[in-house]
Amino acid sequence: MQNQPIGIFDSGVGGITILNSIKKLLPNENVIYLSDNFNSPYGKKSKEQINNICKKNTEWLLSKNCKLIIVACNTATTNSISYLRNLYDINFIGVEPAIKPAALNTKTGSIGVLATKGTLSSQLFNTTSNQYCDNINIIEKNGDGLVELIENGITNGNELQKLLNKYIKPMIKYNIDHLVLGCTHYPLIKESIKKILPGSVKILESGEAVAKQTKKILKENNLLNELKRSKFEFYCNSSTKTLEKLLEYKYTINYIDYE
Ligand code: DGL
Repeated sequence: MQNQPIGIFDSGVGGITILNSIKKLLPNENVIYLSDNFNSPYGKKSKEQINNICKKNTEWLLSKNCKLIIVACNTATTNSISYLRNLYDINFIGVEPAIKPAALNTKTGSIGVLATKGTLSSQLFNTTSNQYCDNINIIEKNGDGLVELIENGITNGNELQKLLNKYIKPMIKYNIDHLVLGCTHYPLIKESIKKILPGSVKILESGEAVAKQTKKILKENNLLNELKRSKFEFYCNSSTKTLEKLLEYKYTINYIDYE
C-alpha cells in the first residue's frame, strides 16, 4: 500500500499551495490532484452541499486507489471533515486557518483572518476561535470574489488590488500584527497582499503544518513510500487553463467529465 498515491482535492487551484509543501517534505510520495473547479467556489455553498461534494471527491479519489486524502481546502475541512471521517475508513488530513499560532504570538492582541464565508460561518472555525482567542480581537473578513479571480488566473492587477484593499485596510486600522490566510487559494496572491500590508504584519498560511501532519500520519500507519516517486497526476473537471498556468512545473492535466 505504501506506493499508492496520496489524494488531494480542492475547489480548483488552491490546493497547489498544499501540494507544494507536500512535494518538499515528502519527495517520494505519488500524488493524485483533483481540481473540482466545476463546483467552485465552495465558500458560498451550504454545509449540506459541501458535504455532498466532498463525498463525491472522496469516492473519486478512492477509485484511484489513494492511501490517504488531503482535503486541501479550508471551507471543505471546516464544514465536512468530520462527516468524511465518519463515512470512510481512510485517513483524512484537513486544512484549517492558522488562528492558534496567530493567537499565541500576537503582541498587539489583534489578528486578521481572511477566509471564505463558508469557513467563517462553520462550527469548527468558531470552536477553534473561541478556544484560542479569548482576549484577542479577531478581525474576520470574508474574501468574497477572490477565489473567482484566482480561478480565472488573476493573481495581480487593479481589480484584485481593489478587493484586497477593501478587506485588508480595515484590519490594518485595528492594528493587526498577524494575518491568517484562511483559504488555500490566498497564498497564490500573497505578493498582492504584501503590497497593502505593513511589513511588520506576519502572514500565516497552513501548507507546512499540513505536510508535517501528513508525514506523521503516514509514518504512524507504516504508509510512507520508500521507493522513489514515480508520478504526479492532475485531474480537472472544468477549464484546465489556470492550473496549467500556476503549476511550478509542466505536467499533463487530464480533463474529466465529472460534476
Ligand atoms: N481553497 C478553498 C478554501 O481553502 C476555496 C474555497 C472556495 O472554493 O470558495 O477555502
